[in-house]
Amino acid sequence: MDLPMFYNEEDEWKKVMLMYDSALKEVYTKIEILNNEFKLNHQYNPIEHITSRLKSPQSIAKKIRHNGRELTVENIVKYINDVAGIRIICSFTSDIYRIADLIAKQSDVQVLKVKDYITCPKPNGYTSYHMIVSVPIFLSNRMVNTKVEIQIRTIAMDFWASLEHKIYYKFEGNAPERIRKELKECADVVAFLDHKMLTLNEEIRTYSHEDELQQYKEILSESFQNMIKDSYGTVVDDDNQVENEQILNDNMNQPVEDKKNDSTTDNLEENFQRNIDNIINKSTIQTKNDNSQTEKEGHAIYEAEEQAAIGKEKASKETEKENKTKKNDKKSEGRHIKFFGFR
Ligand code: GTP
Ligand code: MG
Repeated sequence: MDLPMFYNEEDEWKKVMLMYDSALKEVYTKIEILNNEFKLNHQYNPIEHITSRLKSPQSIAKKIRHNGRELTVENIVKYINDVAGIRIICSFTSDIYRIADLIAKQSDVQVLKVKDYITCPKPNGYTSYHMIVSVPIFLSNRMVNTKVEIQIRTIAMDFWASLEHKIYYKFEGNAPERIRKELKECADVVAFLDHKMLTLNEEIRTYSHEDELQQYKEILSESFQNMIKDSYGTVVDDDNQVENEQILNDNMNQPVEDKKNDSTTDNLEENFQRNIDNIINKSTIQTKNDNSQTEKEGHAIYEAEEQAAIGKEKASKETEKENKTKKNDKKSEGRHIKFFGFR
């Protein structure tokens, strides 16, 4: 790196720059390792990309003069925290804190300063998580702790910061009020978007087909309840309700292998019909005992058969699908049947 302004400390400056360059490499590698490990364990990449830079001599000189200090190598090392800088861009806000925590926990990393502009955004709307850390650099005859500024932000935060940076330079820090206001509004949108994306991601992550199956069972059970209620004016008693649910559960959870060995239930249509028949039989027995509901009983059976017809149509489509899957995938043989049209 050219260094005309430090001509009297040129050797010293070169050594210092070697330290900062090495520190950048150290921290960069640490972050890469964390990302790779995360990918291996969770099949997920928390880091979108990483950039790093060494501050230019002109920027260093400007900053040190802005601070009202003399331009010496000693002052630079002491007062400028971002000679070596790394920016980590993540997908989600939660990744930012996770990565910051993993870096901070490393035994050779010393966290000197943290600025959480995510919890406390700057008045202009800037959000990002900043850490000044120090890492040991081992030379042939000594070890030198060297500072690195780490900025961690989401893609959306980075998008905002780069536009704000352009505007800042364009107007030399005096952007018109309207533009500043609109930029602040964009920052609010960024915060909203990050929150929304995080929530959605959590939902996708925790989504399970088992939940869907359970929900479907509940809906199905409820629809039978309603059917019987509509027909008789009363809900079947609790014992029967439990039994009906048990019948549905038993049939849904019966593995394909079991069904294969059961000659009366070797396909899905029969299975579905058996569910319906069982429920109808329960209702019929109850009604017969009641001895005064013959007409309504006929109505209930009719209703149930109609429901069965709808179900059969679904089940026969599902059978077709199942047969295809069985042909294509030998592995599917031991799994549980998902009939009634689950995805
Ligand atoms: P330094 O540690 O010397 O940089 O002092 P500082 O107090 O300004 O540190 P801070 O952590 O606030 O900012 C460090 C870096 O974050 C800056 O060099 C920018 O890269 C970035 N940054 C801070 N504020 C803003 C901002 O309002 N807009 C944009 N675009 N970037 C910012
Ligand atoms: Mg800076």
